[in-house]
Amino acid sequence: MAMTTAKKAIDTRIKLRILPLEQNRDRTMNEKKIITSKQKPKPATILPSEESKKVANTMWGGRFKDSPDVLMENINASIDFDQRLYIQDITASIAHCKMLVDQKILDTSAGKSIINGLKEIKNEIDKGSFEFKKSLEDIHLNIEGRLAEKIGDDAGRLHTARSRNDQVATGFKLWVRDAIDTLDEELKNFQTAILDQAEKNAGTIMPGFTHLQAAQPITVGHHLLAYVEMLGRDRGRLRDARARLNESPLGSAALAGTSFPINREQTARELGFDRPSANSMDAVSDRDFALEFLSTASITALHLSRLGEEIVIWCSAQFDFARLSDAFSTGSSIMPQKRNPDGAELVRGKSGRIIASLINLITVIKGLPMAYSKDLQEDKEPVFEAADSLSISIAVMTAMLKDMEFNVQNLKKAAESGFTTATDLADWMVRVLNIPFRKAHNIAGQMVSIAEEKGCRLDELSLAEMKAVEPKFTNDVFSVLGVEESVISRNSFGG
Ligand code: ARG
Repeated sequence: MAMTTAKKAIDTRIKLRILPLEQNRDRTMNEKKIITSKQKPKPATILPSEESKKVANTMWGGRFKDSPDVLMENINASIDFDQRLYIQDITASIAHCKMLVDQKILDTSAGKSIINGLKEIKNEIDKGSFEFKKSLEDIHLNIEGRLAEKIGDDAGRLHTARSRNDQVATGFKLWVRDAIDTLDEELKNFQTAILDQAEKNAGTIMPGFTHLQAAQPITVGHHLLAYVEMLGRDRGRLRDARARLNESPLGSAALAGTSFPINREQTARELGFDRPSANSMDAVSDRDFALEFLSTASITALHLSRLGEEIVIWCSAQFDFARLSDAFSTGSSIMPQKRNPDGAELVRGKSGRIIASLINLITVIKGLPMAYSKDLQEDKEPVFEAADSLSISIAVMTAMLKDMEFNVQNLKKAAESGFTTATDLADWMVRVLNIPFRKAHNIAGQMVSIAEEKGCRLDELSLAEMKAVEPKFTNDVFSVLGVEESVISRNSFGG
C-alpha cells in the first residue's frame, strides 16, 4: 500500500524530472515524428569505371576531365552507412521542394513530379529494391541520381537554393532527433521495469555498500530506485539536447545562404524544427548536436555499465544475491556448473564503444576551420554506432531485470553480517544517552571489536558485555540493532 503510493509519487517525479532544465516548453507544437530507419544497410554496388565516370560527372564534374581514382572513390563514398538517412533526406527534400514551389522559384508541375518521384524512391528503398551506387558517393546523390532516371532533367531543379552541406546537416539532425525520441521511450520503459522490481522488493533487506564493504542495511527497492534517478537525469539531458538541436539548417546552402527568395521559416516548420538556424556558416558546420547526443549517450552507457557490474557481482556464487533467468544466462562449454551473466557483461562492455564514439567525433571536429569540410562526413558512423549500442543495451537490461530473482534470505543474511548496525548503535547513544557522536562512534567501535572476537553479531552481545564498555547502557539498545529497525529508522528525505 505504502509502496504503491511511493510508486505513484515516483512516476510523477519521473515525468517532472526529465524536462530540460530551462526549456520547459510544450513539445507538441509543430513536431512531426519521422521514423528512424532501423533497416540494415545494403552494400553499395560498384559500377564499371566507365559508367561511374559518366554518373559522377553529371553530379558535380562539370570542370573535370577525368573520373576519380578508385581509391578516391572508396574514401569519398559514404553510401554504405549514410543510406540510413534516406527517410530524413527525402522528407527534407519534399519540404524544400514544396517551399520552392510556394515561393515561385519552381513551377508547380516540376514540383509535383519531383515529389512523386521522391515518394517512389522512398518506397523502393523501403522495399529493398533500390540499388545504391558507390560512384554516387552518398545518400543525397544516390537519391538525386535515381530521381533523374525517373523524371529526367527536372530532377536537377530540386537542388536550387540548397547544397549538400545544408542538406546533410538537416537530414542528420532529423535522424539524431528521432534517435533521441526513440531512446527516451526506451529509457522510460527501462525506468518502469526498475520501478516494478523496486516495488516487488520494497521490503527486501540487503547490505548497502561503500567501498564495496557492507556499510548499512538498506532495501533492494532503495538501491534500484537510485537507477531510476540516474535514468531520469539521462532523459533530461536527452531532452535538453533535443531542444538545442531543434533549429533548421536547411536554406543555409553551401555556407553563405542563397540569392533565391526562399522561406526558411516554412521548411523549418514543415520539418518540426522550432525555427531556422540564425547563422548559415554555423549551421552547415555545427555538429554540437551530435556531440551532445554522444555525451548524453556516454553518461547513460556509464549508468547501464554500473548496473551491469552490480548484476555480475550479485549473480556470482560468492555473493549469490540474485539469479538471472535461463533466458539471460549462458553456460560454459567446459564448466557445467556455470551460469554466466553475459548480457550484463556485454552491456558493461558496450559502454566502451559508446564512449569511444564520443571521443572519435570530438577528435574529428577539433581544429576544423569554418565552414564545411569533408571530415564532417565522419560524423555519422560514431553516432549510429552509439545509438545502436545504447538501444540494444537498454533493451537487454530492461528484459534481464524484469525476470531477475533476488535471493531474499541471502540478502538479509548479508545485511546482518559485517556489523552493519554499528551506526545505529552510535546514533542510539547520542539520542538516548546524550553522548557526543565522536565518543559514541568510539564506544560502538569497541563493541564491534568485542563481537568480532566472539564471532557474533552486535545484537548477540549481552547487556552485561555492553555495560562493561559503557555503564550507562540499558536494554533499550536492542531496539536499534536489528536490520529491519535500522532500515525503518532512516526516514530522512531521500533515505
Ligand atoms: N556526404 C557528405 C557528408 O556527409 C555530404 C556533404 C558533402 N558536401 C560537399 N561539399 N562535398 O558530409
